[in-house]
Amino acid sequence: MHHFTYQHGRLFAEDVDIAALADEVGTPFYVYSTATLERHYKVFAKAVGAPKSRVFFAMKANSNLAVLSTLARLGAGADTVSEGEIRRALAAGMPANAIVFSGVGKSDAELAFAVDAGIYQINIETEGELHALSRIATAKGKRQNAVFRINPDIGAGGHAKITTGSDDNKFGISLSEAERLYTVAANLPGVRILGLATHIGSQIHMLDELQLAFGRLRELTERLSSLGHRVERIDLGGGLGIPYEMAEAVEHGPGLIEDYAAMVAKTFADLDLELAYEPGRLIVGNAGILVTRALTLNPRAGKTILVVDAAMNDLIRPAMYDAFHDIWPIREPVRGGPERLYDVVGPICETGDTFATARTLPETQPGDLIALMTAGAYGAAMSSTYNSRLLVPEVLVRGAEWAIVRPRPSYEELIKLDRLPGWLS
Ligand code: LLP
Repeated sequence: MHHFTYQHGRLFAEDVDIAALADEVGTPFYVYSTATLERHYKVFAKAVGAPKSRVFFAMKANSNLAVLSTLARLGAGADTVSEGEIRRALAAGMPANAIVFSGVGKSDAELAFAVDAGIYQINIETEGELHALSRIATAKGKRQNAVFRINPDIGAGGHAKITTGSDDNKFGISLSEAERLYTVAANLPGVRILGLATHIGSQIHMLDELQLAFGRLRELTERLSSLGHRVERIDLGGGLGIPYEMAEAVEHGPGLIEDYAAMVAKTFADLDLELAYEPGRLIVGNAGILVTRALTLNPRAGKTILVVDAAMNDLIRPAMYDAFHDIWPIREPVRGGPERLYDVVGPICETGDTFATARTLPETQPGDLIALMTAGAYGAAMSSTYNSRLLVPEVLVRGAEWAIVRPRPSYEELIKLDRLPGWLS
């Protein structure tokens, strides 16, 4: 479900004409729809029974302050993975007790910052981190609430690079270690272990693996409880997949979410637990698009290379995960109109800078605008200044209103980030 539709022959974001926006903002740029963001959050939160269950938006998917603030107003917390993300969540108005800190490796400085901020929970991934956290919190005269992130040895997800739950992945504590670490933690004054967490992968469409993983967490919960350990929170991570074919997305109801919620309820309902969720992609993926302008055409035998002004530094998913993003022209295509086979590429000097290969699209000319759809998650958040390209701007739409929520920096600002050492200046 999303709010990007053709009106008056042009693509609109809610009630905002994207072609007019392109004239104002310049291309490339991201556009997010408040209505889509809000709908997705509400559908998810309702299905999983928030606020009794806790929803921590995985802000690695999209960490723009305006997006976070929109979600915070609906009651969302944040799942963070760095001091920078914790600072952003706080700056967006999320209370510290609505922030969870996950991540494979946390520095002492990050742990200290999180403890000082008084965040809700730290998801501990290694024995070393357990000791570090206790030492840091104890020195501050504090005791930090935490859970153990368990690796259930069940991986899942849309690509090997985003599978996290199998034993040979770098994430989490092995199932067989949980019991011992609970005992270790019982003697550490700076931590209070309240439960378990997991996250087995991203862009998951079948519930089987999630169900298996959650089943293992349940067994572990029962085993730990029977030994007298405290398991009162379970954080189930994120990972639910979304449609990247936009025609499908318009039709896509909350089916998967409801099946997921029912599966979770069936797995844990009879246990007295607080359940938590960390959805990222599901909330923001379909709520954002990347608008770009065609620069030039390069004809080849049987196809045309269409060079656009966005590149892999603005949206790295196709280069990194061979990800599919639907491409929609901003001018509504006429039914039965001319179509061509295109490779849609960015201007960066590497072949990986390709958004789509052999894609049939309505005939496109230099100057035409197109949109890379479903780019709200892991789009702007993963952008860079590679090739000394300016960081891509972001626009948030609400009804007929819009605002630039991250401006395009100037070249002066970009260059000023570097310094010359004394011997060169
Ligand atoms: N919780 C934890 C601990 C995670 O590591 C992640 C994502 C999430 C929650 C949110 O997962 P989601 O609901 O978004 O699937 N850059 C990749 C995706 C990386 C996901 C990393 N972890 C992409 O563009 O596909």
